[in-house]
Amino acid sequence: MEKPWYEIVDAAEQDWDFILEMATTASIFTFNALRSTSAERAEFMRREFPSLRMWVRQGKYRFLLARDRELDKPIGYLLLNLYGMDDLGRRQTFVEDIGALQEYWGRGIGHALFDHATEVTASLGIDFMGGEVAGNNPRWQAALRNRFELEAYRVVRACTPRGREILERCKQTVKAHEELQEQLKARQEKRARRRQQS
Ligand SMILES: CC(C)(COP(=O)(O)OP(=O)(O)OC[C@H]1O[C@@H](n2cnc3c(N)ncnc32)[C@H](O)[C@@H]1OP(=O)(O)O)[C@@H](O)C(=O)NCCC(=O)NCCS
Repeated sequence: MEKPWYEIVDAAEQDWDFILEMATTASIFTFNALRSTSAERAEFMRREFPSLRMWVRQGKYRFLLARDRELDKPIGYLLLNLYGMDDLGRRQTFVEDIGALQEYWGRGIGHALFDHATEVTASLGIDFMGGEVAGNNPRWQAALRNRFELEAYRVVRACTPRGREILERCKQTVKAHEELQEQLKARQEKRARRRQQS
């Protein structure tokens, strides 16, 4: 059978900078935008990264890396917590994070990373792998199409004026971001139309 154009391996020390950059960029999608801005999420990822490296060195987590074999470069990652627990305290693995370079989206790297994490989980004699998708990330539907079952809904209520203020501020940040995206898209379409007319 012909080898695929990509490979999934365990990240090595020289891959850390790529993963930090990727995880910081992907944090726009991987964390929920309900109570934090993208800047706060990126800052959190940078602050937490040294601990993640330590847990990987201690064998508590594994960083799976997707590599483009032809171009010999890293293109995606999945952070697997090997010591997660389900509601009854039984051990499970847990997908803490996953991301791929945007130019590679839609080419099966997500599937390859999840399938490799499934094999790692089974090879440890662990029956289940858990995960969580941010409420505003449409990829949860893909998870349910690909052998993940929906186990719970996570909900949150603001209980103080500061809590309500944080929700409102994040809502405004998301709204401003969406309006900016719309303007950029309208400008691109206008430019494309002008090019067609000229
Ligand atoms: C998650 C991620 C690594 C998937 O990589 P990918 O290369 O696009 O994945 P694949 O090509 O293997 O596709 C995997 C599934 O995700 C679905 N998918 C990919 N992008 C999607 C999107 N933007 N919206 C909805 N579904 C999407 C695909 O349709 C596919 O499902 P299917 O085979 O049942 O149709 C990539 O989209 C990414 O880096 N996203 C930003 C970070 C993120 O959202 N992480 C959390 C994911 S739960």
